[in-house]
Amino acid sequence: MKNYFIVGHSSGIGKALTELLSADNKIFGTYYKSNFDFKNPNVSTHYLNVLDEKYDLSFLPDSIYGFVYCPGSINLKPFERIKEAEFIDDYRLQVLGAIKIIQSIIPKLKKGIYPSIVLFSTVAVQTGFKFHSIVSSSKGAIEGLTKSLAAEYAPKIRVNCIAPSLTDTPLASGFINTEEKLIQNSERHPMKSIGAAEDVASLAAFLLSEKSKFITGRIFHIDGGIGAIK
Ligand SMILES: NC(=O)c1ccc[n+]([C@@H]2O[C@H](COP(=O)([O-])OP(=O)(O)OC[C@H]3O[C@@H](n4cnc5c(N)ncnc54)[C@H](OP(=O)(O)O)[C@@H]3O)[C@@H](O)[C@H]2O)c1
Repeated sequence: MKNYFIVGHSSGIGKALTELLSADNKIFGTYYKSNFDFKNPNVSTHYLNVLDEKYDLSFLPDSIYGFVYCPGSINLKPFERIKEAEFIDDYRLQVLGAIKIIQSIIPKLKKGIYPSIVLFSTVAVQTGFKFHSIVSSSKGAIEGLTKSLAAEYAPKIRVNCIAPSLTDTPLASGFINTEEKLIQNSERHPMKSIGAAEDVASLAAFLLSEKSKFITGRIFHIDGGIGAIK
């Protein structure tokens, strides 16, 4: 049984990943606003706000085999209306939050076997979409961080990143909360659907597992083809 640490496992992709992994692994997960009871003795859940100056990670075991950072945001706005503080707040949540936690758990990851870090970007980094400047700036930094950390910690710790397109989670609810929006957003994708949290969680589970032990420093697009084909 392996120990996995998932920040933000109470919702969306992190929740689907916890459900996928917890049958035969121990999951140490965190929630922020919505505590979810997995009703599984392999899952322990702890409060964490990544924006706090200090937080307590003493619930973590000595060794961690994999870490996943799920907090994110999708703030879409015309560029000229965005205040500096909005870019900074987004960067704090999506990038600095991940950096601070990774720095504090590196010693525990080094004690794992084939340890792996999985971060999240968005399809909007490599494919330009209007009004995406806040999220693509932050997630672009995540893609750079992925490659840099992969280089720095090879061959011990692998670091990869998943860049999804619109996926059916609470984060994306504003884009799919009517039949019309859901159809419109599905039709934009060559695969004629949006993603399911389980689609993305399956890829994350693979990247955490030993099956991917020869893969590091990569950005994986899971986007119904929207970033790859016309
Ligand atoms: N869904 C999409 O369409 C989509 C598309 C592209 C990229 N992504 C990326 O994929 C990742 C996962 O997204 P998701 O859709 O699963 O998001 P989600 O449903 O909003 O889940 C995010 C998780 O992070 C936690 N969280 C939020 N703010 C936090 C904070 N300040 N401190 C600690 N935890 C916090 C949430 O906890 P609570 O719920 O308990 O508050 C939740 O468990 C994100 O990085 C997102 O940017 C998603």
